[in-house]
Amino acid sequence: MEYSRVGQSGLQKPILEIDNLTVIRSGKLVLRDINLNVQRGEFVGIVGPNGSGKSTLLLTILGVLKAQEGDVKIYDSEPMSRNLYGKIGWVSQAASNLPKEVRITIRELVHLGTVNAKNMFSITNNTRRKRVKEAIKMVGLEGLENVDIARLSGGQRQRAVIARALATEAEFILLDEPLVGMDRDSRNSLLKLLDQFCHDSGKTIIMVSHDLSAIRQTAHRMIFLEETIRFDGPSADFPDLESLALVRGITNVHDMKPQTKILPNIDKKEEI
Ligand SMILES: Nc1ncnc2c1ncn2[C@@H]1O[C@H](COP(=O)(O)OP(=O)(O)OP(=O)(O)O)[C@@H](O)[C@H]1O
Ligand SMILES: [Mg+2]
Repeated sequence: MEYSRVGQSGLQKPILEIDNLTVIRSGKLVLRDINLNVQRGEFVGIVGPNGSGKSTLLLTILGVLKAQEGDVKIYDSEPMSRNLYGKIGWVSQAASNLPKEVRITIRELVHLGTVNAKNMFSITNNTRRKRVKEAIKMVGLEGLENVDIARLSGGQRQRAVIARALATEAEFILLDEPLVGMDRDSRNSLLKLLDQFCHDSGKTIIMVSHDLSAIRQTAHRMIFLEETIRFDGPSADFPDLESLALVRGITNVHDMKPQTKILPNIDKKEEI
């Protein structure tokens, strides 16, 4: 099966297909009626309030959590299938909280990303070294290869973890809150880098973020998740705060008109 970018016909097989997904955790309904198809080369941003099921959705796509109902297919396979080894990259929400007592340099951490069960003995050390060097360069950590990760800032550590995911050469990358702890410049360069990945290398990205303004400017498509998908469409059509309240079923408790207006400010971090 050939998986390619959405063509004019729009008929290509999606690389991710989710049908009628329901997930219950410890007896609590966390996700319901999730239907989602993602095509190769798409950059999808997922936003939603705390506890709305964003991480749960990513963990279910990865196959770490099992669905009570519904179906998840990646490249036409069940999550965690053998043929998906090396194809999926994952940056977890707590990725940059690496244990401080583990003494490991950036180079060593990224090197770990090049090893998987399938290629353990099949790729040469030279190829690995090249991949590690490229991944470190891509996230802008050149010159810091031999620095212990415990000595890095939160944003640098986050970038090191992303470099590890890039070194896997995965085609489909899932990131859960990768922007936390990053300063504005690093955040912008990371978003630019991820966007280039989609455009130039046909990688597919799903990224969860609370930083609504940053993700809306980068992702092609936005999803608002709160137990179920309440908005799914082009980033340009993402609802403003007032329409978002309607989408979420929140009604205004005040009859009065608000005294202050929310002005668009691209540097302001919008938390939702
Ligand atoms: N291990 C767990 N066992 C049971 N319930 C859990 C577990 N982890 C999370 N939950 C519950 O599942 C719901 C969704 O959690 P999830 O972590 O997916 O939300 P989220 O949208 O990623 O939130 P955040 O923005 O805070 O990261 C929450 O109500 C949470 O309490
Ligand atoms: Mg989460």
